[in-house]
Amino acid sequence: MPYLSDTMQKEEAVFFRIFRLHPERDTKPYFQEYEIPFTRKDLTVLEGLYYIQQRLDDSLAFRSSCRAAICGSCAMHINGKYRLACNTPILKLKTKTITIRPLSHLPVVKDLVVDMKSFWEKYEQMKPYLMPGKPSPAKGEQLQRQEERGKMDVLVDCILCACCHSSCPVTASHEKYLGPMAFLTADRFVSDTRDGAREERLAMVNDEHGVWRCHTVFNCQEVCPKDLDPSGSIAHLKREIIKNKIQQKCL
Ligand code: FES
Repeated sequence: MPYLSDTMQKEEAVFFRIFRLHPERDTKPYFQEYEIPFTRKDLTVLEGLYYIQQRLDDSLAFRSSCRAAICGSCAMHINGKYRLACNTPILKLKTKTITIRPLSHLPVVKDLVVDMKSFWEKYEQMKPYLMPGKPSPAKGEQLQRQEERGKMDVLVDCILCACCHSSCPVTASHEKYLGPMAFLTADRFVSDTRDGAREERLAMVNDEHGVWRCHTVFNCQEVCPKDLDPSGSIAHLKREIIKNKIQQKCL
């Protein structure tokens, strides 16, 4: 297989093998190959997809918005790993043939676009907003100390791209399993000193579809494009559930 290198010439090309499926027209999915001129060393996979859509085949469907690894909409399976197309330089993949598939465990709408409905439902289930549980202070904001906010630093950057969801083998086999994104979201609020619904949130993740079903495979941690650690959140939630039970017994 030919490899890309820093010495690659501008006139050289790379090849995208892209999963194609138009459910209303195709009986089964297939891969289509496109040739893309390698015009810049920092050319990204997303730019390659736009090149195809604008110059070669306007029927190709994919999602993107911010192009800056912020919105999470361009997540897809690129050369064996779930990644954001907008922050994956082609050169980094070290191969001239790049295979691109849609996210897994979500129905394909068309080509690289998936239906995120079940993913958003799990996010909503986690009540992703503060539930203070006590009246706001009469004057102004409810403040946090710096060290309290510091504990949330590794939790607040989730961009809901679904890379963790798609990489999780348990999510693949149990439709109702909440999955790594939901656990990270729950942990974000359990760890927030301004939130007053700790017990309710722990109960949400403490059932047959919750944290105990995790097989600790660590795929979610490995693929997160923001370097977050959903498996660490799962471990934290398990500890908090047990602490809660012990406290209740001691009362
Ligand atoms: S386009 Fe927004 S994260 Fe890639």
